[in-house]
Formats: sequence, structure tokens, C-alpha cells
Amino acid sequence: MNPSPDRARIVVVANRLPVAQVAGKAGKEWKTSPGGLVSALAPIVRERDGSWVGWPGTEGPPPPSFVHEGLFLCPVGLCQEEIDSFYQGFSNSTLWPLYHDAVRWPEFHRHWWKPYTLVNERFARAAAEVLQPGDVAWVHDYHLQLVPSLLRTLCPDTRIGFFMHIPFPPVELFAQLPWRRSILEGLLGADLIGFQTKNCARNFEIAARRFSSARGTGSLMDFEGRRVRIDTFPISIDTAQISAQAAKPETARLAESIKQGLGPERRLILGVDRLDYTKGIIHRLRAFETLLERLEDGAQTVTFLQIAVPSRELVPQYLDIRTRIEQQVGHINGTWGTAEHVPVRYLYRSLPFEELVAHYLAADVMVVTPLRDGMNLVSKEYVATRANGDGVLVLSEFAGAANELTEAVLVNPHDIDGTATAMQEALAMPPEEVHRRMGALRRVVERNDVHLWADSFLGALFS
Ligand code: G6P
Repeated sequence: MNPSPDRARIVVVANRLPVAQVAGKAGKEWKTSPGGLVSALAPIVRERDGSWVGWPGTEGPPPPSFVHEGLFLCPVGLCQEEIDSFYQGFSNSTLWPLYHDAVRWPEFHRHWWKPYTLVNERFARAAAEVLQPGDVAWVHDYHLQLVPSLLRTLCPDTRIGFFMHIPFPPVELFAQLPWRRSILEGLLGADLIGFQTKNCARNFEIAARRFSSARGTGSLMDFEGRRVRIDTFPISIDTAQISAQAAKPETARLAESIKQGLGPERRLILGVDRLDYTKGIIHRLRAFETLLERLEDGAQTVTFLQIAVPSRELVPQYLDIRTRIEQQVGHINGTWGTAEHVPVRYLYRSLPFEELVAHYLAADVMVVTPLRDGMNLVSKEYVATRANGDGVLVLSEFAGAANELTEAVLVNPHDIDGTATAMQEALAMPPEEVHRRMGALRRVVERNDVHLWADSFLGALFS
């Protein structure tokens, strides 16, 4: 019999380890990666003496398992050919675009499938090596969809959970995938499959009924003599940590100097994204240009700052979108800029956590307008910093977060005029309405943080 949820050891299986190698004083050293997922799961794994199986992010044979800040880490190695075919290829040029509404053409290459299966087998074997009787395996995301069934074969008595961080597409799109049945059967090896939204869970259920032998309705399916539960667990952020950072006097000082840097009386519209074609940055820039056209003389009073965090730079579609964004920024600044005012400021880098929070604090309006997004944590982070109840969030209805953050100004990012109007309304919104909306948004992120998310998932895995 398995132990209770608060005692079982947990083996997390994710494409990336929660650490990365950085240059330190004594050569390369491991550093904990930023982000809510790591800060939520690391304490659980640590406290329960569990392990984390993942790729260190570089090419070559993996280092031996090691302990970092009390966390037992089991690296899985990828050779260059596998980085090309498993990571950049099948994961990020087939599954990623397909699962994000095919906003870019998904590439189907037969020679990428075999490496995807081989790497999934390697992850499953690495997890099986550390799993002991009574442990729980928690597998994450689209890179590892075959791991649940592979683990089921290797460790039949293990309780297995899977959480999909990105959307699961409508069956009409999923049906294009030549390996759709294998992917579904891979996932159905889990006892619990979690999704970000009810729509994603429903899309999965329909696909599973159509293309596998799974049967059942609602949240319970029967597959190969087992019960598989399908449910929704909207991921969140470490609200307390972000709020605490925002409340520090030095953060307020930094935010003030960011505002001063814009010039007197200027309003700041902010965008923060990984540089990814799903984030709708081109559409957002076009909407901002439309806003400038409408404001005419008032164009001098508003600045749009886009922070674009480098991501998957070797995947051709990412290279292409970067070029297009930078051309668009140049076009807007060339057309609308003056010697005194640059309407779009653009940073292609990631910011240290302290600076990021200060930027959230400085922003009058935050625009989060992905074309499709599993959840979008930036929108929740912005809300968590606004302790005094000001600031307006403009949010795409195609982000999973829109299901919870219903008091944001919701937009269809494909509607350029509509997004420009939303930005204009956000800038002109009466203070009472700003406070009413932000108050409601803050209650959402205070109620559902990433710790509750992890507890709910694990609780459901044991129920
Ligand atoms: C998304 C995915 C994660 C992934 C992250 C960064 O949030 O859901 O699984 O780790 O992007 O992408 P990368 O390719 O750098 O791991």
C-alpha cells in the first residue's frame, strides 16, 4: 500500500533539472534556476528525501548524480544529435507549435520520432533507478509524454502523475500528429493527468476516446484495465515571495528611477515574455503603433517597454520572429520617435529577479497578449506586485490565466484595433475602476499560489 500524500517520496521527472551550470569563482558551478515551478517543487522533493531527474541543458554525457542545496539530482544526458532531433526538433518544432493552436506550421519529420522515443526511454530508466516502493513519480510537460507508460512497465506499482504545462490542442489539430496514438497511450500510463484548463482536459479526453482504446466520460477514463483520472490544476506563482520583493524599499526606489528615466509625466506600458512566436509580440507592437496613431500629439506621453528573454535561439522559427520583432521596433521608433522620445524600448535579455519586480512596479499598464499560452505566469506576477491596488492588466483571452484573471481587460490579440483600444482604455481608466479590478485580481493570486497548486495535484494523485 502507498503511504499518504504528505509522506511519500517524490521523484520529479522533467526535461530540465532545477539547476544550471554557470561560471563561478572556481570554474563552473551549479546554480538553482529561477521560477515558480522550482521554488514550489524543490522544498517538497527536499523535505521528502526525493529526487529530480532531468537534463542539465548542455551537450554530452551526464555528470553523476549529485546533491545541490539538499536536493538529490539525477542528470540525464543528451548528445548533440538528440538536442537537434528530440529537443529542438520533435519537442520544439513539432509539438510546441501544434499544441499552441499551430500558430506556426508544425514540422512532422519521421526521423525526429525515434530520438523522441529513445530519450523518453532514457528518462524513464533514470527515474526507475531511483524509484523505491511507495514512491510517487511526477512527470512534467510535452517533452516526456511517453514516460508515464514506460514507467508503468518498469515500475508497475508506482503511483504516476503527469502535468502538462502547455495547452493540449483541440482534436482537429491533434489529429494531424502521425504519432497521436503513441502519445496518448504514453500519457495514459499515468494515474492522474493534469492540465492547466478545463478546455485542455476536455480536448485530451476527446482525443483519447477517438484515437486510443480509453473509454469513459468526464474526469475518469478506463484504459487497459486501469482507472486514469483527468483533471484541471491551474498553475500559479510564489505569490508571497514576489509580494515581499515588491514591498522592499529598494524595489520602490528602483521602480522610481525606471520611471524617471522615461521622462516627466510619461506613462509606461510593459511587456515581458520569453521571445517566442506564441507570445504575440508582433501583434502587440502593431497595436501599440495603432495607439500612437490615435494619440497623435499625445504619443509623446507614452512609452512601451518590451523585455524579450532569449529562448531556443537555435530553432529557426525563433530566429525569424526575433528579426521581425526588431524590424518592427525599428520601424515604430523611426516613424514616431523624436530626438527627445523613443516610443518603444526593447531589451533582449533576462533581468535579475529584483530588477524584473521593479519593472512590474513601474508599469502603469502590463500587456500580456499571447496568441495561445498554457497559463502565463507573468500576468500573475504583475498582479502580485501591485500591493497598493493600482496598475491595469491587459490580458489575452487565449492565455490559460484568463480563466482566473477575469477582471483583467481581456483582449483578442488578433484584433489589433481592439487591443489598441484596450491599451487606450487602460491608460485612461478611472482610479476607482483600476482599484476595483486590481483588488479582484489580487484575491485570485493570493488564494491560488504555486504551493496550493502542488498540494492539490499531489492530493488528487492519492485520492
Ligand atoms: C515553457 C515550457 C517549459 C520550458 C520553458 C522554457 O514554459 O512549458 O517546459 O522549460 O518553456 O523553455 P526551454 O526550452 O528553455 O526549456
